[in-house]
Amino acid sequence: MSDRIYIFYTTLRDGEQSPGCSMNFNEKIRMARQLERLQVDVIEAGFPVASEGDFESVKEIAKQIRTCTIAGLSRANKRDIDRAWEALKHAAKPRIHTFIATSDIHLKYKLKKSRAEVLESAVNAVRHAKTYCEDVEFSCEDASRSDVDYLCQIIEAVIAEGATVVNIPDTVGYAIPNDYGRIIKTIVEKVPNIANAVVSVHCHNDLGMAVANSLTGVLNGARQIECTVNGIGERAGNASLEELAMAIRTRSEALNVHSNINTEEIYKSSKLLVSLTGMHIQRNKAIVGENAFAHEAGIHQDGMLKNSITYEIMTPQSVGIKHSTLVLGKHSGRHALKQRYAELGYALSDKELDAAYAVFTKVADEKKQVFDDDLVAILQDEMSTLEETYKLETFQVTSGLNLVPTATVGLKKGNEFFQDSATGDGPVDASYRAIERITGFGVELLDYSIKSVAWGRDAIGEVFVKIAIDGYVFNGRSASTDVITGSVKAYINAINHAVSARYRKEQDSSVRKEAQAV
Ligand code: KIV
Ligand code: ZN
Repeated sequence: MSDRIYIFYTTLRDGEQSPGCSMNFNEKIRMARQLERLQVDVIEAGFPVASEGDFESVKEIAKQIRTCTIAGLSRANKRDIDRAWEALKHAAKPRIHTFIATSDIHLKYKLKKSRAEVLESAVNAVRHAKTYCEDVEFSCEDASRSDVDYLCQIIEAVIAEGATVVNIPDTVGYAIPNDYGRIIKTIVEKVPNIANAVVSVHCHNDLGMAVANSLTGVLNGARQIECTVNGIGERAGNASLEELAMAIRTRSEALNVHSNINTEEIYKSSKLLVSLTGMHIQRNKAIVGENAFAHEAGIHQDGMLKNSITYEIMTPQSVGIKHSTLVLGKHSGRHALKQRYAELGYALSDKELDAAYAVFTKVADEKKQVFDDDLVAILQDEMSTLEETYKLETFQVTSGLNLVPTATVGLKKGNEFFQDSATGDGPVDASYRAIERITGFGVELLDYSIKSVAWGRDAIGEVFVKIAIDGYVFNGRSASTDVITGSVKAYINAINHAVSARYRKEQDSSVRKEAQAV
């Protein structure tokens, strides 16, 4: 019987703290619910001491998600641990995750502490965390550049204090598989009480080796892997969950391990994360990229037609990509729409179906065929829980060669209607200026991208914008068959995020950090 690998999901903490990936409170809750369906073992929901926003989202995820362990990060000090516990105490299965750096580089330049002092802080942190919580994870930050004998010493000491998981991060993505495997092997062989804890790997992707390093860790005895959907995370990111889960499933005989991940939820999780953060993935990204299951070369297509095992090591269905047998169009009814969503893995309530159907009929009027990716894009819009303070009522643009692009936009706020016009460098710029005049916000546009979600000239275009208001960064998204309408709606969506954050006083330090980094 193969061993179970525990999947520790850190998209909402390590992933979210990277530039371009911040999520607001409701978006984190939505992602956490999807992770529950994906059946990750542990969700690291945030770093509660970092900001009020992080604290509140860890607390809410702890209350709502009952089947996964919920972890909160803390440095190795009493204040951080107290705050983490305050947020985590509502969880069915809480875990305090505390860390301190162990490499001489970090001790000398960052912490200005001796090895003995760091050892003492680590032991005190685990001892304090244990007064609250049975499940305590300890991480040796920058472990891969730490002296391995010192690592063994500190790990033995924290396990003696009751640490249930010991994590060995390759914080700066410096390791190569041989070295990293050797570190894990040494720890497993040399630490006398290692059997009392689970050894965990946490690898960053600076040299493109995060997944390879993690699996080498597993081959040498690690039984928890820390990772993120789409591999998002600091700098070049963390090890990618979908690659790890599918490697474990596809090569279980070679690795002799299995995980509890419901791989059929992978594609949906990846799509949701892109739609929440606007962080696209490359077409040829393993497992979830658009080309991951596309066979273009003639020889390959011929082989596939004869027998798919010639060129396919895993099926698209195994990661949740469903092939339609049915393409919807303007004659399709509510029932067909509900059924197709169910086949795609979305069980819609009557209210959600009503909202999605209203948009679907408009889209179906504009396009002959509505593809699965169009349906998912429609749903991402409709399932947003954001309070829409400003609603687009009307807009008109004029643009062309040797003309000054001009836009007139009408927005509704409650029962009031506001309208204004502006000129700009193009129709989108003119519309954005008109919206700024109406809302009174001084907006800086940081990023704008548009991507078609399916095929054809009439495909739905998905627009993502990133704006800064008063130094805080907000994402906006919209999907429409008309790219100018989509662009205007995405901008209004971002402004509504800003308004909602103001009301919620969600001045999140991770958002602030991102604003400074831009
Ligand atoms: O990369 C790292 O070292 C971390 C730790 C805080 C676990 O993210
Ligand atoms: Zn990390």
